[in-house]
Amino acid sequence: MKLTILSLFPEILKTYFEASIMKRAVAAGHVEYSLVNIRDYATDKHHKCDDEVFGGGAGMLMKPEPLDKALEAAGSPGIRTVYVTPSGRLLTQSYAEELSREAGLVILCGRYEGVDQRIIESRITDEISIGDYVLSSGEVAALVLVDAIYRLMPGVISGESLEEESFSKGLLEYPQYTRPALYDTIRVPDVVLSGNHAQIARWRLKASILKTLAYRPELLTKDNLAEDIARLLREAIDEGGWHEPGTVHSSRTNEE
Ligand code: ADE
Repeated sequence: MKLTILSLFPEILKTYFEASIMKRAVAAGHVEYSLVNIRDYATDKHHKCDDEVFGGGAGMLMKPEPLDKALEAAGSPGIRTVYVTPSGRLLTQSYAEELSREAGLVILCGRYEGVDQRIIESRITDEISIGDYVLSSGEVAALVLVDAIYRLMPGVISGESLEEESFSKGLLEYPQYTRPALYDTIRVPDVVLSGNHAQIARWRLKASILKTLAYRPELLTKDNLAEDIARLLREAIDEGGWHEPGTVHSSRTNEE
């Protein structure tokens, strides 16, 4: 995938592409990227990219001319072009999957109060919000979007990791443990150490359902709450339900 990210502060984005899994994805040719400084497309002598909002209101807006030129140079229209904004459509896993199938993406990072609406109408195909909160930096939102997308591309991370995610689709992930089996006074649940894969899978599914019920009950829809899952849920509740972090071992903390 060819990614072109337009920003007033491309230096915020740079290191992300130079480390860890993304670095490997770039080296392997899965991802090609270009970080564009919008200011390079401002033609006045001060390279001005923002201006006051017509009709009044706090803050400044990104001016249309530099954005229009930068987007034109990036190949838009003609390529899927995302503007990351808190007033966009909410990013979900299925939306990320859809975008991961594109051969190229242009991403525009907003700053200040946002961008002139005429740019959105003429150049943008997708307005995307990463969540119901407001960030001061569109760059952070753009990186969240890129991270959600590129890891789904074939070859970037192991198929097994993705399979595990799709198996428990729509549910929150179960708790996981590593060595040592006894840490401080807290032991890994026996079933997780049992080596019995069927029982471990059943324990994990139950834990996923309980955690989802506790934190994100709206995710338990008819689709993922099939009859066998509903039965597991009843069993899991009978066995003690979900414990908020800090509640199981709170007596030990109190004694200290
Ligand atoms: N820019 C500022 N806040 C944002 C959000 N929640 N999603 C996408 N872009 C943003």
